[in-house]
Amino acid sequence: MLRFVSLGACGCAKYVKYQKIPPAFYPGPGHYQNKPFQKIKACRFYGTSHGQDPSMKKFRNYKRIFSISLFTGTFVLAWYLKKLKGEKLRTLLEDFTRLPVDDSLFGAEVSLYRHKGYIFPGQMVMSGVFKELPHFQFRASDVIVASYPKCGTTWMQEIVYMLTHNLEKTGAANEVLETRFPYLEYPYPGIKSVAAKPGPRLIKTHLPLTLLPPSFENSNAKLIYITRNPRDTAVSYFHFMRLLTACSYQGSLSTFFKMFLSDTVMYSPFFDHVLGYWNCRKQSNILFVKYEDLLKEPVNVIKKIAEFLEVEVCDTDVVHIAHSTSFKSMSANASVNYEHWKDLGFAHKDKGKFLRKGKVGDWQNHMTEGEVAAFEEWEKRHLADSGLTFTFTLPEAETDVA
Ligand code: PPS
Repeated sequence: MLRFVSLGACGCAKYVKYQKIPPAFYPGPGHYQNKPFQKIKACRFYGTSHGQDPSMKKFRNYKRIFSISLFTGTFVLAWYLKKLKGEKLRTLLEDFTRLPVDDSLFGAEVSLYRHKGYIFPGQMVMSGVFKELPHFQFRASDVIVASYPKCGTTWMQEIVYMLTHNLEKTGAANEVLETRFPYLEYPYPGIKSVAAKPGPRLIKTHLPLTLLPPSFENSNAKLIYITRNPRDTAVSYFHFMRLLTACSYQGSLSTFFKMFLSDTVMYSPFFDHVLGYWNCRKQSNILFVKYEDLLKEPVNVIKKIAEFLEVEVCDTDVVHIAHSTSFKSMSANASVNYEHWKDLGFAHKDKGKFLRKGKVGDWQNHMTEGEVAAFEEWEKRHLADSGLTFTFTLPEAETDVA
């Protein structure tokens, strides 16, 4: 639109400029005799017929009126569209507060907003999804995997997929997980496409319980929440923010820990998120699972998940799922390892992998004593009286399924 305005303005400026050419430079009328096209062309550039040709005078007047109307029209249209855009933005940003972001920490343009206590990326907010979420209708046949980011969502999604698809082990021939198990609030494939999906739908979300579409409450949809100890979550999150081109985090790990502890990263506050679901864990349509338990006892936990989903499985089936969804197996599975993000330009090629380590206790390789103390104090403060505990270390031998 600005291009139109500048073109209009430019046209007018040219017009005014040519009016100022002294008459001494105008070619005489005889100069163009028998060459009407050139005459018109010349008038366009010299802006006069020397006052001797009435038809050219008329033409000049029309041209003037046309230029002025074009300029005014474009200006009014630009102003109107800007106003509309402003109104749309105002509606989108109702209940959102833009947060200050230290640009030097990111290699990409990052904007963050606080909404009803939680932090969301600008891209998501601007997509308008928060206006649509309240109208989203859950169905009793839906299975939702919910989590705070980096807590084992992908792992749980793949387990649920296998359980609900005749134990099918996926591979490169399958659709990628984002399509099989779409992310509700993410702009791609988008909430409208999730809504239109035929059932039974598998839906991923990082939304806290308080921001789930209200239809969840009476829908009887099944929801599995997976959580992970906050120290490993923070380390995994740090690497993920470096990997994503949309963030390209370039700050230090210690700065990231500070951001994590001050609840200023996306989907934080961590403990409000986790405790929101933890406090509803006894609801019959909610299953609360810890990453560390799944890693330590995949067979037992997968059995529990199958029971919750009312899928009948024998021991052999469960072992098959545990092996197919082990870290090693998923790392080599193109439909779940997100390596295609590198070709799509969503992830940097030289900043590691989405399935990075898959361990409990990796934080010990990254945190200083002071940082451990800060996490301990923070965890204690938030977990007091909640009944929720986390596992921070596991002997290596206890975590290998594959
Ligand atoms: S996201 O982006 O929020 O959906 O990420 P999410 O899937 O929740 O978490 C990614 C971390 O989970 C690890 N992961 C696994 N660990 C063990 N076994 C399996 N099968 C598995 N699949 C994913 C993944 O490696 C990320 O953790 P880190 O510590 O970074 O390795």
